[in-house]
Amino acid sequence: MDVEVFFWPSGRSVRVRRGTTILDASRKAGISIKTRCGGKAACFMCKVIVRPESELLPIGDEERRKLAGMEEKNIRLSCQTRVSGKTDVELLPDPLQSAVAKALARQKEQDDELW
Ligand code: FES
Repeated sequence: MDVEVFFWPSGRSVRVRRGTTILDASRKAGISIKTRCGGKAACFMCKVIVRPESELLPIGDEERRKLAGMEEKNIRLSCQTRVSGKTDVELLPDPLQSAVAKALARQKEQDDELW
């Protein structure tokens, strides 16, 4: 049975088989989620926020141990989280892009104060 997975903020969606990981669904949707471990729950780079109404298969012991309680804030490892029905996924901002954007905003504020 296919299920629909939505990705935010892009709004893209994709239909995948029940049991597909969010990481594999993102790849099918043409969305890049960075990883370093190849989906082995080791790098912690593939974190996403899953909206509470999403339908997921039960969390596995390995993912629960890695997340150490973050799953209660709806943060999940996309390489380990498997969908069982309609799922809404929010991608976290890239930390490097966020740092650059903050630095540019700070620089603009400083430049504006000078003029
Ligand atoms: S891809 Fe490395 S923890 Fe998910």
